[in-house]
Amino acid sequence: MPKGTYYITTPIYYPSNKLHIGNAYCTVMADIMARYKRMRGYDVMFLTGTDEHGMKIETVARETGVTPKDFVDDIVCGKGGILDLWEKLNISYDRFIRTTDDYHEESIKKIFKRMHDNGDIYKGAYKGSYCTPCESFWTDSQLVEGNCPDCGREVKYAEEEAYFFRQSKYADKIIELYRNQPDFLQPQSRMNEMINNFLKPGLEDVCVSRTTFKWGIPVDFDPGHVVYVWVDALNNYITALGYENERYDDFDKYWPCTVHFVGKEIVRFHSILWPAMLMSLGVELPKQVFGHGWLLFDGEKMSKSKGNVIDPIILADRYGVDTLRFFLAREYTFGADGNFNNELLLTRINTDLANDIGNLVSRTVAMADKYFGGALPSVHEYSPEDDELIALANGLHETYETHMEKLAFQNALSDIFKVTSRANKYIDETTPWILAKDETNQTRLAAILYNLLEAIRICVIFLTPVMPESCKAILTQIGATDEISTYDSAESFGTLPKTVKVNKGEIIFPRFDVAKELEILSAEMV
Ligand code: MSP
Repeated sequence: MPKGTYYITTPIYYPSNKLHIGNAYCTVMADIMARYKRMRGYDVMFLTGTDEHGMKIETVARETGVTPKDFVDDIVCGKGGILDLWEKLNISYDRFIRTTDDYHEESIKKIFKRMHDNGDIYKGAYKGSYCTPCESFWTDSQLVEGNCPDCGREVKYAEEEAYFFRQSKYADKIIELYRNQPDFLQPQSRMNEMINNFLKPGLEDVCVSRTTFKWGIPVDFDPGHVVYVWVDALNNYITALGYENERYDDFDKYWPCTVHFVGKEIVRFHSILWPAMLMSLGVELPKQVFGHGWLLFDGEKMSKSKGNVIDPIILADRYGVDTLRFFLAREYTFGADGNFNNELLLTRINTDLANDIGNLVSRTVAMADKYFGGALPSVHEYSPEDDELIALANGLHETYETHMEKLAFQNALSDIFKVTSRANKYIDETTPWILAKDETNQTRLAAILYNLLEAIRICVIFLTPVMPESCKAILTQIGATDEISTYDSAESFGTLPKTVKVNKGEIIFPRFDVAKELEILSAEMV
């Protein structure tokens, strides 16, 4: 019996450019969470996908000389495209939605009509400042120095007949939602920002249809209009479960969503427009929206136009997928911005992976191999000097879980590395290579190696959602079979059989020459 259901989503990505490490960040974190929850025995639905409509895509496709559908097909499904990237990064999504999927289009038409029929969508005219890249109209008070508040680019005056969604009607209800469900929007600072900047001043109605371009889902009862991309996009979270379509039948099982992971600049859409639309549809609200920070490059957001895009494929190919995943989770606080640079990545690989856990595993396995031909003897002699390491490994389960449940990946990992560092220190304190010189120390030596293997096993089980492949390889090396590599088995120390047999293997986390690598990367990433 599963422990419960867990529905996690990432934003659906615009297939206008190749994705960069900043885009990959959110999806990797969501994957870590999905794997962690599966490991704990939850029935997980992990959804990601692509947001394929809108003027921007229509324009880029035209410039490229292909139809919008061919254009997005190539970026999503083509070689080196989004699907390939997720495969490369070992993203274990359960469902991938494209907003051009038939079933989604069918649902959106019905959703739009439903909101129209209940009086929340009405026809009017839109006049105002429009940001083409963000596909957003802005009021004068929202503009920053006359430019788009999201991307900082120039806005144009635009006017068109359009449908509007009565978002204004929902301002009080949303403030009430934040009050009644304080976890609805995390981190807390993002909630304050929404209240002070948008909700308190009063919400405006949102323009939800366009007539100036064709690449979108037509409004069912007025086909000269296409549905505004954010209405199209946000509803993916329910259409992908089968809301208003026959394709899937998972809505009752997984909705309401456990958590939507989103970047901070799209928190506004997810924490205001999205709940307002759901209220209009009479659908339950998601339990949480988590607005993570941006990966910055020299203090600026990565973007193609700034030419500071880091290609995750190059990094994953050179240093390993797991290593990259680990770096993203270990280096940054999920809710805050963080600066990305290659030197930080390489330093992390060398310190945490090569020197710390990598070294611990290879030293321990090599000693078990050398002193006992791989298999430990059955009699182990305890000493009080073992207590600290055992206690630390035994207590890891609790702190790890607390941090993971709060999406504090960095803290969860930092606790794991307290145990691996302690284990390395334990080797230095107990000096197995000296004990090995004397036959009479065999039982003590066996206990030391056993304690090390157990500490490794526990740490590596908890590292598995972050580095699935490397952890599997380590568990094989330390002789932990599948039954004793489960989440529950990491709750207590002493699960490995006393006569465990190790399997010496390749070095899992090699060290890199930082200066040399930096040179290579700067040449590759132009
Ligand atoms: N299509 C919309 C989302 C619709 S969800 C119903 C969209 N797409 S996007 O491709 O532009 O961005 C997808 C995600 O990538 C966003 O959450 C955005 O915050 C994130 N990131 C883009 N650049 C980023 C960084 N440099 N760092 C971290 N996340 C970044 O928005």
